[in-house]
Amino acid sequence: MSFDPQKIFGKIIEKTRSAVRRSGEKIPYTAEKDVFDDCSGDISWWTNGFWAGMLWQLYGACGEPSFRKTAERIEEKLDESLMSAKGMDHDSGFKWLLTSGANYTLTKSEASKNRLLLAAGNLAGRFNPAGKFLRAWNDGGDGSAAGVAIIDCMMNLPLLYRAGELTRDPRFSQIATLHADTAASAFVRGDGSVCHIVDFDPETGERKGSRAGQGYAHGSAWTRGQAWALYGFALSYRHTGRKNYLTTAERVADYFLTNIPASGLIPVDFLQPPTPAYEDDSAAAIAACGLLELSELAGKRNYHDAAVRLLAALDGQRCDYDPAHDQLLTRCSAAYHDDRHGFPLIYGDYFYTEAIAKLIGKETFVW
Ligand code: GLY
Repeated sequence: MSFDPQKIFGKIIEKTRSAVRRSGEKIPYTAEKDVFDDCSGDISWWTNGFWAGMLWQLYGACGEPSFRKTAERIEEKLDESLMSAKGMDHDSGFKWLLTSGANYTLTKSEASKNRLLLAAGNLAGRFNPAGKFLRAWNDGGDGSAAGVAIIDCMMNLPLLYRAGELTRDPRFSQIATLHADTAASAFVRGDGSVCHIVDFDPETGERKGSRAGQGYAHGSAWTRGQAWALYGFALSYRHTGRKNYLTTAERVADYFLTNIPASGLIPVDFLQPPTPAYEDDSAAAIAACGLLELSELAGKRNYHDAAVRLLAALDGQRCDYDPAHDQLLTRCSAAYHDDRHGFPLIYGDYFYTEAIAKLIGKETFVW
């Protein structure tokens, strides 16, 4: 079957209309028996902005009122997280760029701008000046996570860039670039692969070591982490024009491209054993978005072509376009060593939708 992004986008809109009717204001993480679950009871979970983000992407393209209404309601629900010191971590970009940021872009809602700036201020407050990194996770107050940074955070930096643009206060992008510089030197390896977790001494800022995190093993290449880095450095280049971010994004992209299997389907880790053949559709979708962005920024067609290859593999083999089912991508994995593999994850659906929207020129740029 030939890959037709216009048709795919139409199918996603139709499917989403049905899902909104069925699952409405739920905040999904995955789907069970083809029906979205609901994370509303775990309001600070890092994925809680993706369904609203997908609805805004589609609303921006087709103006369907139910998409906007549902996304606005989810954004309001997230206020509980914004008010929770325990709940606020480095993933504020994922949560508020895709809700409040998208809303402000499309509707100029002052309430959304307010939320975005509150979230950005909190993220900036996670900066460790000694190590020049943004702290990732929280702990129970014992300081055990005070020195932990993860590659995923590259995707949260656009919240700081956006706040800097809105307030004309350079502190936001100063913090973002200091973190990006640290990530380029502390996470990215000589061959262009990246590690997931780096531990710093939170007092001195010294780099103590790295960990496999959600990947296969120490020194391996967790594919979603590669995709976060690829897209994240490209976005930092887009916001700052700093050449080293473009070079870094290209090094990570070239490593990714070299390792795409013949099937075009992406494993959980590029260095995992051949069996079990765990896959992660979400890594493919995120990488496709990053490659499309990078292709434009670097003026290189091969990145665009690689993105199309990844999306065509998902479209032909891994997408569920049945309007009776809530999920879109079917074989994602949260982490290599988890018990569960090959199931829907809402961020996979979001990035697949964003990538298709990018391809056909209908993207609402949120990063
Ligand atoms: N940010 C967490 C993940 O990619 O699973």
